[in-house]
Amino acid sequence: MTSHIPEKSRVETLISAQELETRIAALGAQISADYADKDLTLVGILKGSVPFLSDLMRAITIPIQIDFLECSSYEGGLESTGVVRLVKDLSHTIRGKHVLIVEDIVDTGRTLAYLLDNFAARGPGSTAICTLLDKPSGRQPGGEVAVDYVGFTIPNHFVVGYGLDLAGYFRNLPYVGVYSPPEE
Ligand code: IMP
Ligand code: MG
Repeated sequence: MTSHIPEKSRVETLISAQELETRIAALGAQISADYADKDLTLVGILKGSVPFLSDLMRAITIPIQIDFLECSSYEGGLESTGVVRLVKDLSHTIRGKHVLIVEDIVDTGRTLAYLLDNFAARGPGSTAICTLLDKPSGRQPGGEVAVDYVGFTIPNHFVVGYGLDLAGYFRNLPYVGVYSPPEE
């Protein structure tokens, strides 16, 4: 029987739950030190950053606030459409705040380039980027962004799990894996 639900057997583990936990503990410690005397707001990009932000915020030992926004560029496929839209905006002002954007993965870089531009006009104290995964080989013109904190640098594979999705599925996997699509 065919189904629109992708098969978990097509996902091969790339980064285990244990490796994620260890790396995120280190990122949390580093961010806590770097922002020791600052008023820090973590801005999670929905929906992919949810597991990462949830674990990262608990690895940060200084008082912080969190907020969320949602962008869209994939429209459900395996390739970025290149056009970034703001689907949901922040609930609070970031004027004067130190903002750390928390993202699941940087691929073309266009989502973050768009957000940095968008945030600059709101007068934050500072803006930095923390991404769980970085695919440097995926960068496209207009996406040349400097990433301040990177969990793992990975090759140009389509990955799912721990927030990352294929057409909305697999975000709940506790690990990151490479998805191999079925033959045509
Ligand atoms: P960018 O604008 O191309 O950097 O894309 C960033 C967004 O694309 C991420 O927030 C993800 O939602 C999505 N994305 C990029 N690569 C992957 C992938 O390998 N798997 C799942 N989503 C991805
Ligand atoms: Mg995303």
